[in-house]
Amino acid sequence: MATPDTFRDIARYYDPIMSHVNYERWYFIATALARLLPPEFVHLDAACGTGNLTKRLRKIGWNSMGVDLSEAMLRAGQKGAVHPVTAVADLRALPFRGGVHYVTCLFDSLNFILTVEEMRAAIHEFGAALKDGGVLYFDTVTERMITQHFHGQRWTEKNGRFSTTWSSHYDRATSTAETHIQVDRGPGCIVRERVFSTQELMAALADAGFTLLGQFDAETWRPPGRRTTRVEYVATKGATPHASRRFLEAKREIQGWLPA
Ligand SMILES: C[S@@+](CC[C@H](N)C(=O)[O-])C[C@H]1O[C@@H](n2cnc3c(N)ncnc32)[C@H](O)[C@@H]1O
Repeated sequence: MATPDTFRDIARYYDPIMSHVNYERWYFIATALARLLPPEFVHLDAACGTGNLTKRLRKIGWNSMGVDLSEAMLRAGQKGAVHPVTAVADLRALPFRGGVHYVTCLFDSLNFILTVEEMRAAIHEFGAALKDGGVLYFDTVTERMITQHFHGQRWTEKNGRFSTTWSSHYDRATSTAETHIQVDRGPGCIVRERVFSTQELMAALADAGFTLLGQFDAETWRPPGRRTTRVEYVATKGATPHASRRFLEAKREIQGWLPA
């Protein structure tokens, strides 16, 4: 059975709705981590959405492509001067086997997968897509993010020529948040996000043959703590001792760039 495109009815509004989002931060970190890669590399932005990151990276000459489950999101991204190279694909069954050097999966895209088994399948697919020594950079939101900013909340915001109303509920028993997003009086959509623990994610990485280089609070790139709302993970496929030194350099550069 085909998976429904939950973003279909809001895809064309996605970029204005997200215009406040700091893509510059992901761009900076994604490029800082490229020092772990060979000079010529293939980059896959998994769950690229409208291709905000992919487009920026293609602009600086990267061989970047994006995949996403939502055809509507990919279509909405085909505007502007730089057209991302994209295809419809499911994180849980990626059409790549070993030809990719670098996978990014950002803006909590992995949280849109709703079971631990399927999250594990997606991480396995990242490993299958990557060459040995390849790099994976992804993020996930924490329960604190959902309970602080979404649970039981309803608000309307103005996004230029339209308004967006959000209402959200978090179910602790299933670690799943359900958010209704409505543009003006349109049909809107319901998106669901699942919170995964660090232990679940680290076990999935280890079982898929990754070596974790680090996990960080996204705001500071210091170790995650109680107040962390987003965690970023960096891992390599297989054991790559040579990567550690270059990773330390990248980490220093990222920490120096982020506000203290
Ligand atoms: C919050 S958006 C982030 C998009 C993009 N990474 C960005 O930074 O703007 C989450 C994206 O994950 C995609 N997605 C959700 N489940 C997916 C799956 N199983 N396979 C591929 N993409 C998926 C959605 O279609 C959506 O575009």
